[in-house]
Amino acid sequence: MNSVNIAIIGTGLIGQRHLDLASKIPGCKLVAASDTHPDGAKMGQKYSIPFYEDYRRMLIEEKVDGAIIATPTNTHADIGIACAQHGVHMLVEKPITGSLSDAEQLVDAAQQHNVKILVGHHRRHNLLVQQAREIVQNGQLGKLIGVTALFALLKPTDYFNVEWRKQTGGGPILTNLIHDIDNLRFICGEIENVYAAASSATRGFEVEDTASLTLHFANGALGSVLVSDATPSPWSYELTSGENADYPFTGQDCYQFCGTEGSLAFPSMTLWRYPKKQEGLPGWYKPLEQLRRFETAENRPLSAQLAHFCDVIRGDAEPLINGREGLKTLAVTQAVLESAQQRVPIAPHL
Ligand SMILES: NC(=O)c1ccc[n+]([C@@H]2O[C@H](COP(=O)([O-])OP(=O)(O)OC[C@H]3O[C@@H](n4cnc5c(N)ncnc54)[C@H](O)[C@@H]3O)[C@@H](O)[C@H]2O)c1
Repeated sequence: MNSVNIAIIGTGLIGQRHLDLASKIPGCKLVAASDTHPDGAKMGQKYSIPFYEDYRRMLIEEKVDGAIIATPTNTHADIGIACAQHGVHMLVEKPITGSLSDAEQLVDAAQQHNVKILVGHHRRHNLLVQQAREIVQNGQLGKLIGVTALFALLKPTDYFNVEWRKQTGGGPILTNLIHDIDNLRFICGEIENVYAAASSATRGFEVEDTASLTLHFANGALGSVLVSDATPSPWSYELTSGENADYPFTGQDCYQFCGTEGSLAFPSMTLWRYPKKQEGLPGWYKPLEQLRRFETAENRPLSAQLAHFCDVIRGDAEPLINGREGLKTLAVTQAVLESAQQRVPIAPHL
């Protein structure tokens, strides 16, 4: 397997996790890092790699095959376009950019310079998410009728010591729900309309702390989602997936998919249906059977995402979530905000 040269741009919270993985994954060679903050130099020393305060100089001086862009969202477009101009493939953290017009420009630049974009919606690399998609899309639940999803947890009060997190755009819709929107698009299919209500009544900040939404999928299924970062609750992807050791695992479910032949709870992967050999008509007076559909020991989505990025760079795979897909997830999430503000249903601007 040919080794590919990877550079990290932005060595903050998520950038440090990428640095750690890029230094370990076979076939991936960590060659340089960049951050505008001089403290980033410590990362260069830690991994014995060149460190640059100016990523543009890094792109000129180092031989980089792929860059991981882990800087604040509003910088993704400029940095990504510079990478494209240097012929460097990119893994862009989510959301792809801060606006749809920026995302369009980035996707166009990548196409023009023939480089690949992988968007960091890493949950698509979770084997349970992939299994749920297979169960739903292969018709194992029959025709999909609907889905319920919960992102309900408590962010500690000191999370809000950072000013932007109290202001419009800094809340759970753009920060957290975007992950669930991407999961639901990946598992259930395209979302063509959203109707949302948002509230800031619990904390009283400008930003929402709670939202409720109705989703219309193109295949006719409906979705119902409750979002709140102000409740002590065990029901969120964060606390149920066991994906990130920073979050205590609750063993609960966060999504329920309902079809004409059965239902699936995620991530316990419990499938409920009526036994084939039951006498009489299936229905609410008859006992349902419960099946566990999947067991997995090795499920590390962030590592899997990076290994996949290296395959994309080598030309051995197409991005599991490319720039256009990342743009669609952003468009649906922005439609949620727009619907909540205008109090009308909104079709995502795709
Ligand atoms: N996939 C996930 O689950 C996940 C989790 C956290 C954050 N994110 C995303 O990752 C991105 C970064 O978030 P974070 O929480 O790590 O932020 P952060 O503030 O901890 O880190 C960002 C870093 O980028 C640096 N930076 C800013 N402008 C730069 C530039 N022009 N060149 C080089 N470095 C620059 C900053 O100095 C900082 O060190 C955001 O888009 C965020 O939405 C994704």
